[in-house]
Amino acid sequence: MSPVLDQYPILYRSELRKGVADLVLRAEAIASIAKPGQFVHIKCSDELLLRRPISLCDVEDDTIRLVVESVGKGSEWLYRRKAGDLLDVLGPLGTQGFPVPDSSSKDSRPILLIGGGVGSAPLLFCAKRSSVPADAVLGFGTASAVILEREFAKTCRKMLVTTDDGSYGRAGFVTSAAAELLESGNYQAVHACGNMSMLQAVAALTEQFGLPCYLSLDERMGCGIGACLVCAVKVRGEDHEEHYTHVCRQGPVFSREEVVFE
Ligand SMILES: Cc1cc2nc3c(=O)[nH]c(=O)nc-3n(C[C@H](O)[C@H](O)[C@H](O)COP(=O)(O)OP(=O)(O)OC[C@H]3O[C@@H](n4cnc5c(N)ncnc54)[C@H](O)[C@@H]3O)c2cc1C
Ligand code: FES
Repeated sequence: MSPVLDQYPILYRSELRKGVADLVLRAEAIASIAKPGQFVHIKCSDELLLRRPISLCDVEDDTIRLVVESVGKGSEWLYRRKAGDLLDVLGPLGTQGFPVPDSSSKDSRPILLIGGGVGSAPLLFCAKRSSVPADAVLGFGTASAVILEREFAKTCRKMLVTTDDGSYGRAGFVTSAAAELLESGNYQAVHACGNMSMLQAVAALTEQFGLPCYLSLDERMGCGIGACLVCAVKVRGEDHEEHYTHVCRQGPVFSREEVVFE
């Protein structure tokens, strides 16, 4: 289905923590076709030429939910929007989202979701759309960075939170807690979103367990539709040859075997 470009109103705006906004938009054209792992591209003020990519955190009826961390000019502008404001949004984008089991799936084994920081947001949409139970491990730097814990706890069968500094939940990286779950659970696949070093560690871990693994890559973007080269990354094809592809169009989710960590 083709992405739609339109203006959508913000119905609700709240803060998950300082610097992270939770926005719910009425956007039926996007909500009706969106799949887990896809994202939208948002115009952030008249001053910034390039749109900014934000993942779909959830889709309910005619609404889409976005979690925005203020890290620079564009995301700060977005973070400061209020209920009633209109946003100029292109989406849903990305042709390869998370292949989450649906009602046609014959495999009833659970899936494991591994999120790092704001990268946890798109995994909530996976958990909600999965036809099999989902477990989640969410990793954050410190206690004050933790978001979406209650929602994941409500949606998932098991949920663990880790903090690097041990100030909340389990101390240490997400991959240590994930390894524990992988030892005991009979998972069919792992889906992960976070920074590149976390994804690399998740790739190594799931390879050790011989499990299929899908990673959402976070690359800077220009057009969002495959027309520029801003989001180009090296991937490995089925013939094991390496070539460049567009994260925005061919991704943003790739299987572990496709991702070339440089
Ligand atoms: C497919 C996809 C989905 C995303 N989903 C979300 C989401 O759900 N919520 C969210 O808060 N953010 C998400 N991001 C990241 C978000 O798009 C960037 O934080 C935003 O574009 C930064 O723009 P800016 O103008 O605020 O910052 P800039 O001023 O452009 O940059 C500020 C800082 O952020 C870094 N940065 C900029 N873009 C990225 C990027 N794509 N990845 C890593 N670092 C970056 C810059 O290097 C710089 O250090 C996603 C990115 C992608 C590619
Ligand atoms: S952002 Fe332009 S090709 Fe991907």
